[in-house]
Amino acid sequence: MNASPQFGFTPGDILVVTGAASGIGRATAHQAAGAGLTVAAWDLDGDGAATTVAEITEAGGTALAVTADVSVAEQVDEGFARSRELGTVRYLVNNAGPSSAVELDFDEALRISVGSMRRMVETFLSPAPTGAAVVNIASVAGNVIGTASDWYCASKSAVAGYTRHLAAYRSHEVRANSVAPGMTDTPRLAGFASSEVGQRALERVPLHRMGTPEEIGWAVLFLLSPLASYVNGVFLPVDGGWTVTQ
Ligand SMILES: NC(=O)c1ccc[n+]([C@@H]2O[C@H](COP(=O)([O-])OP(=O)(O)OC[C@H]3O[C@@H](n4cnc5c(N)ncnc54)[C@H](O)[C@@H]3O)[C@@H](O)[C@H]2O)c1
Repeated sequence: MNASPQFGFTPGDILVVTGAASGIGRATAHQAAGAGLTVAAWDLDGDGAATTVAEITEAGGTALAVTADVSVAEQVDEGFARSRELGTVRYLVNNAGPSSAVELDFDEALRISVGSMRRMVETFLSPAPTGAAVVNIASVAGNVIGTASDWYCASKSAVAGYTRHLAAYRSHEVRANSVAPGMTDTPRLAGFASSEVGQRALERVPLHRMGTPEEIGWAVLFLLSPLASYVNGVFLPVDGGWTVTQ
């Protein structure tokens, strides 16, 4: 089918990726399908999720589009019911989250950003499948670097903290890690690299460029995979070295 790395996954095992219509989620869905996983591609943008699925199918992979807003409890329940029609869901990538540029009420933003990830995990682990693994998408913002929006920093720190909770207290059910992207070239940062602010920011990144969604996706897939079977509770920055220079 392709020459993608297989990461030791059992072909046909099922992965749910949220925010799979765009950016990091879309790339991860493609890469996971290339590694032999069956992908439930979730997004509130149903047309976008369907496009991702059509592309995966065209490339020879197996995927299902699920239209769901992860911040709405009923939609999470329905999304898992649909995804489980494929079989046991063994892997979860909690990627969906609002852009830091959006103005949101602080409490509501935390509910949407990190409350939704917790709800996804609780539903995913009811009941817990054998060999379960989750990767939550945090950010270097909040954990290392401040951002203008208070809720974004706070919620991404919370994602990392929640992941550590899972790793420490739910290890009998799931292996949990977080990936913290640096500046990544996705639609939400369109035009950033060529802007004055962007150029100044990228000067401070040792690799002097943004990351690609695929460069984030490879890290996500590794942590999810059996190759990372003894990796539990890490917070992995994938940021071109940005944070070590701060
Ligand atoms: N791009 C970056 O530089 C960057 C840096 C650090 C962290 N991140 C994080 O990575 C994740 C993905 O970001 P991206 O840049 O790929 O974004 P993106 O805007 O390209 O894609 C996000 C996708 O998530 C979907 N989505 C948003 N809210 C949703 C919800 N409630 N339910 C279901 N789907 C929803 C959107 O429809 C969209 O398709 C986010 O959690 C973001 O905070 C991104």
